[in-house]
Amino acid sequence: MSLRSPTAGPTAEGPAETGPRLVVRGLTVRFGGLTAVEDVDLDVAGGEVVALIGPNGAGKTTVFNAVCGLVRPTRGTVTVDGRPLGPTAGLAGRGVARTLQGLGLFPGLSVRENVVVGVPRGARDADARADAQLAALGLTARAAQPVGALPYAERATVALARALVARPRLLLLDEPAGGLGHGDVAALGDVIRGVAAEGTGVLLVEHHVDFVMSVSDRVVVLDFGRVIATGAPQDVRRDPRVEEAYLGIPAGAVPHAGRDRRAPGGTGGVGRPAGGGAR
Ligand SMILES: Nc1ncnc2c1ncn2[C@@H]1O[C@H](COP(=O)(O)OP(=O)(O)OP(=O)(O)O)[C@@H](O)[C@H]1O
Ligand SMILES: [Mg+2]
Repeated sequence: MSLRSPTAGPTAEGPAETGPRLVVRGLTVRFGGLTAVEDVDLDVAGGEVVALIGPNGAGKTTVFNAVCGLVRPTRGTVTVDGRPLGPTAGLAGRGVARTLQGLGLFPGLSVRENVVVGVPRGARDADARADAQLAALGLTARAAQPVGALPYAERATVALARALVARPRLLLLDEPAGGLGHGDVAALGDVIRGVAAEGTGVLLVEHHVDFVMSVSDRVVVLDFGRVIATGAPQDVRRDPRVEEAYLGIPAGAVPHAGRDRRAPGGTGGVGRPAGGGAR
């Protein structure tokens, strides 16, 4: 993955902004009678990496989807650079890019073509811009190959390239380390830190605890749809409420809290049967 500037060009296109890029206030999402997310506040500043963690069913994806505009909040607000976010189609125009858990690539298209899709409409030299992005992430040799033929780690990098080629001011990543080996996770961490160093705010939903702790400036912990802790990684990691909620076992009984405890074949996390949430 990246050995050079991760975005291969100036980030943060558009006017400089002050204050947090992403501001979530009082976010509540109900699905019928189930309250998936309740009264969540969350900020991501430019240049900051914020991770959202929590056990199965805690509401992480629901928050992520509400931020992306894929889920309509029951209550509360989501603003980017001080303005409410519109429908999903408007994300790019607001300087927001995201990667999804399923990657969402076009397997029959080449690596380059997939990345060109991420170049903002109307931008000149889409091919050259895509190629520069591929070079920045070490994918030049793959540019002409169909994405579907690549191993997962490289496909994940293509998805990241497609997001970064937009030069977002706010980058939303849903479980980017999922399915990656140790070396690829480390490289991904370098890319994320590099993106943040260029001024982009990053919101990361992730199960891989070691990765979260190494890459984040701030960690927000959800449990039963509510924020139970927020702070610097080392403080959050020591918080007994977090150990109990996130790891599902009493504080002090965890010899190594840094493993990815996702059950094999499951959708992630530990501590609670799937389908749990605020009630
Ligand atoms: N579209 C939906 N309709 C009904 N309930 C939903 C919907 N999406 C999520 N839920 C419920 O909302 C709660 C929060 O789910 P969410 O997927 O946000 O949790 P999560 O923290 O992402 O969990 P995981 O770690 O398993 O990915 C869960 O109880 C889930 O079953
Ligand atoms: Mg989820």
